[in-house]
Amino acid sequence: MAELTSHQTSPLEQVLLRELNHRVNNEFASIISAVSLATARSSNEDVKLALIGVSELLHHHADVHHALQMPADDTPVDVVAHLSQLCRSISLSKLEDRGIELTLSACPLWLHADQCWRLGMIVYELITNAARHALSKRGGEIRIELSHEGESVKLRVQDNGSAPDNVQPGCGLKIINALTQVLDGQFEQHFGAQGSTATLVFRCNTRLDSPRL
Ligand SMILES: Nc1ncnc2c1ncn2[C@@H]1O[C@H](COP(=O)(O)OP(=O)(O)OP(=O)(O)O)[C@@H](O)[C@H]1O
Ligand SMILES: [Mg+2]
Repeated sequence: MAELTSHQTSPLEQVLLRELNHRVNNEFASIISAVSLATARSSNEDVKLALIGVSELLHHHADVHHALQMPADDTPVDVVAHLSQLCRSISLSKLEDRGIELTLSACPLWLHADQCWRLGMIVYELITNAARHALSKRGGEIRIELSHEGESVKLRVQDNGSAPDNVQPGCGLKIINALTQVLDGQFEQHFGAQGSTATLVFRCNTRLDSPRL
């Protein structure tokens, strides 16, 4: 049997991830159906409206989860389409109602599904952190830029919120560092009172601007 490289997910890890995704999908479906039932049973218009809002929110969170699922195979993926879909779902699930504007600027890029998946998970955590820590008290802006030069891919995530003087890494930054290692890339983040900027650079050893990898 061929040996796994550090970039690949082992068959056992794939089964465990599929089981987790399957269970989370089922749980989303089950709670959305419970909320729909409660909406139909309620005779109070205010309660109905509130429950419809909850149901929509659950759908948006389920969409984020769906966009972040491990890909079924390692075929080429349109990164701009993937990140656009992810950003739209994240905006609807946790940014728009808090007055946080999310913009994505990206040049055409195709990556193997595995690399694209890891990139998406990093983007997710950086947006979540900006919304939660930098822009928690007021609205603001989160800008995502994706560019590439030759085989080098660069992601930049910027916010215009504020950061504490002393940042203690939690689970999220540890996950980003672990994903960066698998991408064989470099990650750095500068925190400031006027905003923070995270930069990820990694190498893509394939054709970058078309689906023929
Ligand atoms: N964009 C940001 N602006 C300001 N502070 C930030 C930003 N991103 C991260 N931080 C700081 O870095 C800390 C560590 O982030 P990290 O994602 O590792 O953990 P967390 O978000 O606190 O918790 P979790 O484990 O749920 O991710 C945060 O608690 C916060 O203080
Ligand atoms: Mg975090």
